Amino acid sequence: MSESWKEKVSTPALVVDYDILQRNIKKMAEFTKNRGINLRPHVKTHKCPIIAHMQLAAGARGICVAKVSEAEVFAACGVNDILLANEVISPEKIQRVLNLNTFTRTMVIVDTKKNVEDLNQAASKRNVELEVLIDLNVGMDRSGVLPGDAALELAKLIEKSTHLKLHGLQAYEGHLMYIKDFDQKEAQTKACMKNVVETKELIEENGIDCNVITGGGTGTYNITGTYPGVTEIQPGSYIFQDHHYHSLVPDFDIALTVLTTVKNKPVKGIITLDMGLKAITIDKGNPEFKGYGRKVSLGALSEEHCQCTCSSKVELNIGDKIEAITAHICTTVNLYDFFHVIQNGEIIGIWDISARGMNV
Ligand SMILES: Cc1ncc(COP(=O)(O)O)c(C=O)c1O
Repeated sequence: MSESWKEKVSTPALVVDYDILQRNIKKMAEFTKNRGINLRPHVKTHKCPIIAHMQLAAGARGICVAKVSEAEVFAACGVNDILLANEVISPEKIQRVLNLNTFTRTMVIVDTKKNVEDLNQAASKRNVELEVLIDLNVGMDRSGVLPGDAALELAKLIEKSTHLKLHGLQAYEGHLMYIKDFDQKEAQTKACMKNVVETKELIEENGIDCNVITGGGTGTYNITGTYPGVTEIQPGSYIFQDHHYHSLVPDFDIALTVLTTVKNKPVKGIITLDMGLKAITIDKGNPEFKGYGRKVSLGALSEEHCQCTCSSKVELNIGDKIEAITAHICTTVNLYDFFHVIQNGEIIGIWDISARGMNV
């Protein structure tokens, strides 16, 4: 494929391979369709309304977001089925969620009685019915109530609440996503989901409707997504992948790179790229360089510069542009305002990352 498009892009820049993106979208959509479950992609990975609409057009039921401000961006762009997979605690954010519910479905998750009471009180004042899911702590210890009786107690309180409706259970097993050994990951994920399904049954035995079990991510999509009783999965990273995730889940290809320019060759064996910490994140490891394997590797990263060591076989000159593959896609995307979208060697789109920085 011609690489002349690189000349038209000022660096550092995020570059999306359109065909790979479409393949990833289609593959996950077909996986869920074939298993008769819903797909609710987590859009914190791309933060881009155009991509959310591509996922919905391919069959996704709705989207997941992490923040109220993200929900507002996607609602404003016409997405009408949103799960805010996070507790909303503060009064002003509760008002924002209720406001969204006057024109678009925006569900939230809960894990304390106080939060259930606060949500119900605020919803009744606004005369809005709010759908909630009970957040189960399935082992990650980040949030949620324990499966079993604690969840049942919360379900009973929701059932009594005049303006809340229990939609189901949120069960995100984030602590299992990066387990290297598949059999081990499968055994642990199944053990989690067994508790979740039993909790749903317990709630239903007590006469309370609880229709949905949602959870899973890219690392467990094909385990959680095939567990009997799970009705929905919410993967995010599969859309672009990063090299960390790709090494564990090669089913989805890497669709996004950071285009960067060789700016300096200060000494033999070192090149300096215009891609510093403000252009790529390293919280999950160092970037890799497309097409260079171990021949180019990161030495030092400062705010605006990336010093790399190069093997003597590498011929890179000042002005050359190369593509870096991040180890963590979600945090890297959040550094940019738009994607350059490439197909057949042409730039076919400049897509706004409208929810970039929406962390409130
Ligand atoms: C609640 C929730 N669901 C789903 C996901 C998606 O995970 P992944 O990007 O691993 O697919 C995340 C990731 O942080 C999450 O927090």
